[in-house]
Amino acid sequence: MYPKIIVPVDGSEISYKALDTALFFSEKLGSNITAIHVMEDIPVTNIESQKLLNDMLEISAVCKRQGENILSKCSESARNRDLNVNTVLLKGNPASIILDFCKNGKYDLIIMGNRGIGKVKEIILGSVSSKILHNSTCPILLIK
Ligand SMILES: Nc1ncnc2c1ncn2[C@@H]1O[C@H](COP(=O)(O)OP(=O)(O)OP(=O)(O)O)[C@@H](O)[C@H]1O
Ligand SMILES: [Mg+2]
Repeated sequence: MYPKIIVPVDGSEISYKALDTALFFSEKLGSNITAIHVMEDIPVTNIESQKLLNDMLEISAVCKRQGENILSKCSESARNRDLNVNTVLLKGNPASIILDFCKNGKYDLIIMGNRGIGKVKEIILGSVSSKILHNSTCPILLIK
């Protein structure tokens, strides 16, 4: 059951908790786990100010480093339990990228947080989890 599980990770505590749950599934069911992080696109076209353009490119590089760090933490968590996790770093609209990746890779289960790094603490579902919940054809386990 659930041979291929995907875990979208944004660096929030809940998303790491989702990874822990996936690792538990891996331990018990032998599921193959893929952790995915999506860097948001920064629009760098049509900017006339060279300084602004440089700043944006710098932000883009920082986001890439951050994404790589998030995924290394996932690998480390798996290693600490003698398990394995595949890591994928992509760029674009997080929900759309995750939905496409999940469909193309024929994943059986998505395990993700109900919230993420967003600042509005009152809402129960973030925009990424909400869009995935509405559009995914595969089952989803939402971690709180
Ligand atoms: N960029 C991302 N890459 C991978 N997974 C993500 C990304 N953003 C969110 N997720 C996943 O979606 C879950 C819910 O995050 P979401 O972004 O929907 O909530 P939020 O950050 O609290 O709200 P919002 O982003 O709408 O302000 C996270 O716990 C994580 O599993
Ligand atoms: Mg978010």
